[in-house]
Amino acid sequence: MTKLTQLQRKHTKLVVGLMSGTSLDGIDAALVRISGSGASARIKLLAFDTYKFPKGFRELVLKNSLPGSGTVDTIARLNIIYAHFFADAVKRIVRKARVALSSIDLIGSHGQTIHHLPNPHRMFGKTVRATLQISDPSTIAQLTGITTIGDFRAADMAVGGQGAPLAPYFDFALCRSKSKNRILLNLGGIANFTILPKNCSPRQVTAFDTGPANMVIDALTRKFYEKKFDPNGTLALRGRVIPSLLNWMMSHPFFKRKPPKSTGREEFGAAFINRLLTRAKGAHKADILATATEFTAYAVYSQYKKFIAQRMKVDELLVSGGGAYNRAIMKSLRKHFAPAAVNTIEHIGISSDAKEAMIFALLANETVVENPSNIPSVTGALKQVVLGKICLA
Ligand SMILES: Nc1ncnc2c1ncn2[C@@H]1O[C@H](COP(=O)(O)OP(=O)(O)O)[C@@H](O)[C@H]1O
Ligand SMILES: [Mg+2]
Repeated sequence: MTKLTQLQRKHTKLVVGLMSGTSLDGIDAALVRISGSGASARIKLLAFDTYKFPKGFRELVLKNSLPGSGTVDTIARLNIIYAHFFADAVKRIVRKARVALSSIDLIGSHGQTIHHLPNPHRMFGKTVRATLQISDPSTIAQLTGITTIGDFRAADMAVGGQGAPLAPYFDFALCRSKSKNRILLNLGGIANFTILPKNCSPRQVTAFDTGPANMVIDALTRKFYEKKFDPNGTLALRGRVIPSLLNWMMSHPFFKRKPPKSTGREEFGAAFINRLLTRAKGAHKADILATATEFTAYAVYSQYKKFIAQRMKVDELLVSGGGAYNRAIMKSLRKHFAPAAVNTIEHIGISSDAKEAMIFALLANETVVENPSNIPSVTGALKQVVLGKICLA
C-alpha cells in the first residue's frame, strides 16, 4: 500500500499544525489527534507551543516582505531556513508531548506569508491574483520524515478566490451553534471574523478581514516603548482616544470595500504607520496607542454594522489570537457589541493560542482524503477545491 493510501484509510491520525502569522512573533505548533474527516471530523489538542525566532530574524523577514527592499536571493534562502525552523518546531512539540516523531502521520503547514496580493491584476493578458507563503513543505517533509501539506492558499486563488480566509472551514465544522448567532473573531496581526448564523449551512457562512488587529498596536509600542506589544493592553488603558485620529484611520479605503476581502502589511504596515505618526504629531504617546487600540475594536464593529448586522444580530463573540490578551481591545469590543456576550474561544473549549495552528492540521487532514476545504461564499472562489500541495517524505 502506498503512504497516501495508508493515510487515507487511517481513521484517527496524529497531526501537527504549523502557523506563523503576520505578527512574526514566532512559530505556533499544535499537536492534535483528529478522527474522521468532513462533517464528522473531531479534533483534540494534545500539545501546543510557540517557538521564538532567533534575534534579527523578524527584521530580515519584514525587510524581505516589502517591494523595493526584498531581494530574490534572500527570499529563496528564507524559504528554506523557515522550513528548518518549522521542522524544529515539529520535533520540539512532539518531544514536549512525549510522543515519538515516527508516530506522527501528517503535518499541515501554513508557512509564512511574505506577500499577499489577492486583488486581480492584469499582466500580459492574464488576470493574476498572487500570494506567497514561504517555508518549503518538501523540505519540512524531508527533515522530519513526515508527509507534509503546505501552500494552502494557491488553489483557491487559481479559481478566482482571495485565498483567504481559510479559518471558516474549521469554524463551521467545529464552532457553529444550533441556538446562537456567533461571530468568531481572530486577533492576530490582522483581524478576521467568521459569521456563523445559528444552525447555518456552509453557504450561509461569511468571513473576511476586518482590518488590523495587533499590527498597528505592535508597531507603535515598538516605536514608543521599545516593547514587542502592549502587555495586556495596560499602556493603551492609560491613554485617551483622539477622535479625529480615529476618524482618519477609519477613512482608509479598505473599510469601504465590499467583502470578500483580505488585507495585510501591504495596507497597514510601515507606510500606514508613517502617515499615522505625521497626523498624530504633538499628541501623547499613550493617547496615540489608545486610539490605535480603539481602531482595532471599532473596525471590527463597524464592519459588522456595515456588512452583517442587517442579516444577523449577533448573540455571542468568541475571540482568539494574541489580541484576546489585550484588555483594552476586549473592553472596547464589549462596549460596542453590548448586549452580545464577548468571550474568548476557551468558552467553547478551544485554546485561543492554538486555534490557528489547529486549523492547518484540520485542513491537511481534509486534503489527504481529497475533501475540498475552501468556502467559496467566503473567499469569492468560483468553486470548491482541494487545498494544498502534498509532499511525501
Ligand atoms: N499578553 C498580551 N497582551 C497583549 N497583546 C498580546 C499578548 N500576547 C500576545 N499579544 C499580541 O498578539 C500578537 C500575536 O498574536 P498571534 O495570534 O500570534 O498573531 P499572528 O497570527 O499574526 O502571529 C502579538 O504580536 C501581540 O500583539
Ligand atoms: Mg503568532
